[in-house]
Amino acid sequence: MLTYTSRKEISEKTEQLRGEGKSIGFVPTMGALHRGHLSLIERANNETDILVVSVFVNPLQFNNTGDLTSYPRDLQADKKILETVGCDIIFVPDEKEMYPKPTTEKYNFGTLETVMEGTFRPGHFNGVAIVVKRLFDIINPHRAYFGEKDYQQLTIIRKLVETEKIAVEIVSCPTLREDDGLALSSRNANLTTEQRKEASFIFQTLQLAKKRKNHICPAHLRQLIINIFDANKNFKLEYFEIVDDKTLQPIMAWESSKGMIAFVAVWLGKVRLIDNIRII
Ligand code: PAJ
Repeated sequence: MLTYTSRKEISEKTEQLRGEGKSIGFVPTMGALHRGHLSLIERANNETDILVVSVFVNPLQFNNTGDLTSYPRDLQADKKILETVGCDIIFVPDEKEMYPKPTTEKYNFGTLETVMEGTFRPGHFNGVAIVVKRLFDIINPHRAYFGEKDYQQLTIIRKLVETEKIAVEIVSCPTLREDDGLALSSRNANLTTEQRKEASFIFQTLQLAKKRKNHICPAHLRQLIINIFDANKNFKLEYFEIVDDKTLQPIMAWESSKGMIAFVAVWLGKVRLIDNIRII
C-alpha cells in the first residue's frame, strides 16, 4: 500500500495509473474506520482496478469545535485495516496541504441544504463540498463511493458533480448496522457503555415510523415520532423529517410513485447521531 501526504505526488501517481488504462475507485473518509467504511471499500475494490482511500478530518465541515476536537482519530489502526483489505493507495494530507490558503469557495445547493443537516449545521455542506471537490480534482477517480447513512451528503455530492461537471460516477452504498440496528458511525466510539445500549432506540423508532405509515398521514406520523423521542429523556431530538428522496423537501401525502425517506438527528449525551430509513 502506498501512502501519500502530498497532493502533487498522489495526482501524478493516479494520472500515471489512468494512463496505463487502470480504473480508479475512490472512498473519501475521515478515518476511525469501521465496517460501514469497509463496505464502501470492499465494493470499490471489487469494481475498480485501483483503490484509493483518503483519511482527512476536514475542519471546514465541523460547525462545532467540540465535535472537531473529540472526533476519534487513529491513523495507525486505519492503516492496518486498509492494508488487510487490499487498499492500493492511501491519501493522508494535513490541513496545510489541503488548505494552503484560506478557502473562498461558496457552493449553492439551493433547497437541498436548507433542510435537516443544512439547518442544524450551518456551513457544514459547503465544507464537505470544498473538500470533496478538491479531493476529486487531486485524485481524478472514475468512481467514488458514498454511504446512504449520510443521505443528504450523498444528494449534495451528486448535485456538486452535476453543477461542476465533474467526470466521476457516484456510487451509493447501503447503511451498515450493528446487530441491534444502530448505524455504524465513527462517533459511536464516544458513547458510554450505557449510551451504546440506549442508542438502538433510534433505529427501533425509525422502524416504527415505517410500520405506522399505512395508518396515518405524514404530518401525524412526524408528530407521533417527535413525541416518542421527547418522551425518552436520554435523547434530545434535533429533527425528525419525512422527505422526498430527490428534493429532500417534506412530503404532505403518501405517494407510491415517489421515494420517501425518514431522517433523524438526535443527541445522546454529548454525541450527535444521525440515521435514516426508506419509508417508500
Ligand atoms: P465519514 O463520516 O468518515 O464517512 C465516509 C463515508 O462512509 C461516507 O460516504 C459515509 O456515508 C460512509 N459511511 C459512514 N457510516 C456508514 C455506515 N454505517 N454504512 C455505510 N456507509 C457509511 O462522510 C464523511 O466521512 C465526510 O463527510 C467526507 C465525505 C469524507 C468528506 O470529508
